[in-house]
Amino acid sequence: MINNLNKIPEHIAIIMDGNGRWAEEQGKERIFGHQNGVNAVRNAMEAAGEAGIKFLTLYAFSTENWNRPKEEIDALMGLLVKAIHAETDNLMQNNVRLQTIGNITSLPEDCQKELQTAMDITKDNTGLTVILALSYSGRWEIVNAIKMMVQNNVTVDDITENSFKNYLNTKNIPDPDMLIRTGREQRISNFLLWQIAYSELFFPDILWPDFTKQDLVDLIAQYQTRQRRFGKTGKQIY
Ligand code: FPP
Repeated sequence: MINNLNKIPEHIAIIMDGNGRWAEEQGKERIFGHQNGVNAVRNAMEAAGEAGIKFLTLYAFSTENWNRPKEEIDALMGLLVKAIHAETDNLMQNNVRLQTIGNITSLPEDCQKELQTAMDITKDNTGLTVILALSYSGRWEIVNAIKMMVQNNVTVDDITENSFKNYLNTKNIPDPDMLIRTGREQRISNFLLWQIAYSELFFPDILWPDFTKQDLVDLIAQYQTRQRRFGKTGKQIY
C-alpha cells in the first residue's frame, strides 16, 4: 500500500528485462521466462491501478527484438495473443484501458486483431491506461514523426517542441515520471528517448519474472523521496 498519497506519479514506464536469464538460471528454455513474465505484467498492472497511477507503459517487444531467433519471436507473439485474450475480462473488471505504441502493422495479423479487439472493448475505461510498446523503438518513433511532418508540409516556423510531440505515438500521453528497468542492466535501450528527458530512473536488482506488486510500491516510495527540478535550481517542484 502507498503510504504517502502526495506525489503519486502519473506515468510509469517499465523496461521488462531479465526473462531469459531467469529461465536459464533454472535450466529452462528462455520462453519459460517470458511465460512467467506475464505474471509479473499482471502484478505491475494491479499495483499501478491500486496506487492510482494513470499510465503504465510496458516495453514488451522492441524493434531490435526482431533479430532474435524466429522460434523465440513466434513464441513471444503467441504468448502476447494468449495473454491479451485471457486478460481482457480482467482489464474490464479493473477499469483498465489498453493502448499500444510502435510499428503495430509489422506484427502478425492475429496479434494485431487481438490487440484491436482488446483496445476496442476497453476504450471507455477510465482507470489505469496500459500502453504496450510493441515493435517499438525511440529512434524509429522520432524518424517516423519527421516523415509525417514532411508529408504534412509542416514549415520550419511551425516546428516547436510542443508541435513535434503531436507526431509521436505518445501524443496524448504525459511524459513518464518514472522509468524502471529490471534485469540488472542500467541502460535505456532505445525506449521512449524523447519522453524520458526528465524522468526519474530506477534500476532494481530484480529479474522481470520475479517482479511483485510490493516491488512497484517500494519503487514509488523511492520516487517520492526524489527532488525533481526539471533543470531548475532551488525548491522541490510539486
Ligand atoms: C526481456 O527479457 C523481455 C522481453 C523481450 C519480452 C517481454 C515480454 C513479456 C514480459 C511477456 C508478454 C508481455 C505481455 C504484455 C503480455 P530478455 O529476454 O531480454 O531477458 P534476458 O536479458 O535475460 O535475456
